[in-house]
Amino acid sequence: MDRVNRLKEIYKTIDNGGVQDKICNLPEFPKIIEFEVTNHCNFQCLMCKTGVGTSTRSRGYMTDEIYQRVIEEIKEYPVALKFVGQGEPTLHPHLTEYLRIAKENNIITHLTTNGSLLNEAMMQEMIDAELSSIKFSFQGVDAEGYRMLRQKDNFEELMQKIELLYRLRGDKEFPYITIGTSVTNESGEKVQAFRERCKNICDKVEVGITTLEFIDLDKIRDERYKSEIKKIQEHQDQIKRRYICCPQIFDTIAVRWNGDITACCADQDGVMTLGNIATKSILECWNSPQENKYREILSKCEYDKLELCKDCYDVYGWTYGDN
Ligand SMILES: C[S@@+](CC[C@H](N)C(=O)[O-])C[C@H]1O[C@@H](n2cnc3c(N)ncnc32)[C@H](O)[C@@H]1O
Ligand code: SF4
Repeated sequence: MDRVNRLKEIYKTIDNGGVQDKICNLPEFPKIIEFEVTNHCNFQCLMCKTGVGTSTRSRGYMTDEIYQRVIEEIKEYPVALKFVGQGEPTLHPHLTEYLRIAKENNIITHLTTNGSLLNEAMMQEMIDAELSSIKFSFQGVDAEGYRMLRQKDNFEELMQKIELLYRLRGDKEFPYITIGTSVTNESGEKVQAFRERCKNICDKVEVGITTLEFIDLDKIRDERYKSEIKKIQEHQDQIKRRYICCPQIFDTIAVRWNGDITACCADQDGVMTLGNIATKSILECWNSPQENKYREILSKCEYDKLELCKDCYDVYGWTYGDN
């Protein structure tokens, strides 16, 4: 079967046009909601602020009341709900129920996960809920590279889980399965070998670049890893590039576990919070003077004027169209 990622159609529209186009054609509602059901995590990945514990936001789980409020509002629009945030979504006890509710409301869904907590029953529930797409996150392209950044010996087990989901899905249309990794200085041959290994258990393999800014070197006990990461960090500083046009502010918005609505999915500490769903709708936040001010600043690429944006770089050479 020729599977299509339902989100790809949305990504393509986000990729289109330059800044002027985006300002003139601002959608009436965000096309994508980056949706964090929890910022708790069962991993301590070194490249992630949640993993190293440097995020300042309090941690928690979304309540059913907040979820219902979000659904009530977004079901009126052609929007995709991406279950991805600054934690591990599969830790939320109602995740598969939330997916089912989204399906009943004809909402396209996506899940990004470390995969560690998935079992056969959960996978079946996700298939039944017609989860549109799922991305399994790796770092590196082998067990060693994975262990270095994710600090777990989970590479092989994760491959087996993906294979199981692939088999359970059979010839059903959903979910579209992506294996995503990011690399530092792995050789082209190793990356190719990883692609080969994955190609029969997923629909797409994505390879980006690991940004190592958040790594606290003092937390690394293995001296080999420490010096390697230090070297890569120095090299990355030299290749940082700005986005031509911010891929978030004109098309997406993020909702956090506590109902906070924020302008950017990378807003770990909530510095671009626009309101909370208890008192403000997503639409109000989308059209708020604060959000429009961010758009004005980012349309001129004045990244240094915003606390979060001054440290944001296009280290993936990335466009939504490809991802
Ligand atoms: C913050 S995680 C949250 C979802 C889930 N816990 C996971 O690991 O997939 C979202 C995505 O960001 C990626 N990520 C986190 N820190 C990164 C970094 N410094 N460089 C590149 N990708 C990163 C992860 O690999 C994952 O695909
Ligand atoms: S990358 Fe994902 S799995 Fe790793 S610490 Fe961050 S949130 Fe957890």
